[in-house]
Amino acid sequence: MRRKGLFIVIEGIDGSGKSTQIENLKAYFHEKGLDVVVTREPGGTRIGEKIRGIVLDPENQEMDSLTEMFLYAASRAQHVAELVQKSLDDGVHVICDRFVLSSYVYQGIARGIDLEIVKKVNAVAMQGLVPDITFFINIDDDEAFRRRAKRMSSDRIENEDKAFHLKVFKGYRELAKDMENVVWIDGMKSVENVTVDMTGHIDGKI
Ligand code: ADP
Ligand code: TYD
Repeated sequence: MRRKGLFIVIEGIDGSGKSTQIENLKAYFHEKGLDVVVTREPGGTRIGEKIRGIVLDPENQEMDSLTEMFLYAASRAQHVAELVQKSLDDGVHVICDRFVLSSYVYQGIARGIDLEIVKKVNAVAMQGLVPDITFFINIDDDEAFRRRAKRMSSDRIENEDKAFHLKVFKGYRELAKDMENVVWIDGMKSVENVTVDMTGHIDGKI
């Protein structure tokens, strides 16, 4: 029987360095000759990418918070069933840009939906799948706003006001303290040093 793949999730606010690090982690797995799939949420499947289009479309101003929560969970259900679980079963490692911690923080803490409801809905979507490692890349609030100011793209969530984003920053730090298998990463370090910190945690597990 082939060894099961590792399910690695990268979390953090917009601009915390997730995409940058995912590229480096992909290279790290390739250098070791290991099979790896890089994917993202919302999205990662044909149907999930369509859901992503709806949920992030800045035109969808009237979207209710519950609709938003269910759309993220729907994308997740399809992703877990179609791609993530199968890849892991085939012994392929999976690196995922955001997963359920994002729903706890954005829909639970920042939108204000009862966290127990967010957890229950997502437990159904995930069908028992738990990440082996969730890296939470933490950066200072000031740095977060500096990096945000430089960005061109603005989706429906990024367009939210400063108060919303401050809730997200704080929410991540609160929830990342207690969640299972969460590893805090200091995202204020250089790109190279952040990668070294992450691969140090992965090394012992592959
Ligand atoms: P995310 O995917 O979390 O939104 P990105 O990887 O796109 O974040 O990075 C956002 C911006 O911050 C980019 O301009 C990137 O070059 C820069 N950046 C990423 N990591 C670091 C770092 N460790 N130090 C300084 N700037 C960084
Ligand atoms: P994305 O472009 O993937 O994030 P980033 O800008 O960090 O690269 O955008 C996804 C957006 O969706 C992001 O603002 C966070 C939000 N989101 C939720 O609100 N709930 C979720 O469950 C997920 C996965 C993302």
